[in-house]
Amino acid sequence: MGGSDANRFRFLKELIPEVRNKLPRGMPNLVKLNTHDYTPQEGITPSLAVTYARWLADLEINGLEISCGSPVYSFMNMCRGDVPVKELVNSLPFWKRPIGKLMMKSLVGRYDLEEGYNLEAAKMIRPIMGNISLFAVGGFRHVSSMEGAVENGYTDFISMCHPFIKEPYLVKHIKEGKVKTASCTSCNKCLAAVANDMPVKCYEKGFPEN
Ligand SMILES: Cc1cc2nc3c(=O)[nH]c(=O)nc-3n(C[C@H](O)[C@H](O)[C@H](O)COP(=O)(O)O)c2cc1C
Ligand code: SF4
Repeated sequence: MGGSDANRFRFLKELIPEVRNKLPRGMPNLVKLNTHDYTPQEGITPSLAVTYARWLADLEINGLEISCGSPVYSFMNMCRGDVPVKELVNSLPFWKRPIGKLMMKSLVGRYDLEEGYNLEAAKMIRPIMGNISLFAVGGFRHVSSMEGAVENGYTDFISMCHPFIKEPYLVKHIKEGKVKTASCTSCNKCLAAVANDMPVKCYEKGFPEN
């Protein structure tokens, strides 16, 4: 789809200057870039992401956040951790549930949380970003891992998603020295909630009974 790499990039190339022109003065223009979509037919890969990052840097964005996975083919690559089989199956129409259960069960144990799972891509992309900030998302739960990634120069910033769903004041508590580890267990029930058209919040103890 989209032809050459340059052609696939055209949407961003045209959109980013338009967005910048509309942004209030002082508001950063940030882009989130997939570094590996893990689709059956290969799409974006880390080396292609490096090319896109270089082109994005030429567009003078203010920051680049890198992630991986895709919501359709590889949602568990995007959100590593446990596979909430029951909750995901619940989102399917009744007739799809038996096959859906088999499919979800086959994913169990294949996407265990690995802290900073986009850091290998970060190491490839950071050197070409110049003074544009790089944000790495993906699996950060321990303050020591976050600090290590920044101190080693792999990334400038750490992004998080799941941990903030459970602990919106996490950064404040880290700053105050009250917390060294996010309490999110990466059960992914908050992700399954999206598939069930439920509000995004922490469902670690399970979905409410209907
Ligand atoms: C409920 C939920 C919704 C998400 N929605 C999006 C989305 O719309 N776009 C996106 O790029 N990533 C989305 N993500 C992925 C996160 O932004 C993030 O890349 C991923 O969860 C890994 O980071 P973490 O380990 O800090 O959660 C979502 C994740 C969750 C749990
Ligand atoms: S439901 Fe709560 S504990 Fe489970 S992954 Fe989401 S935020 Fe973390």
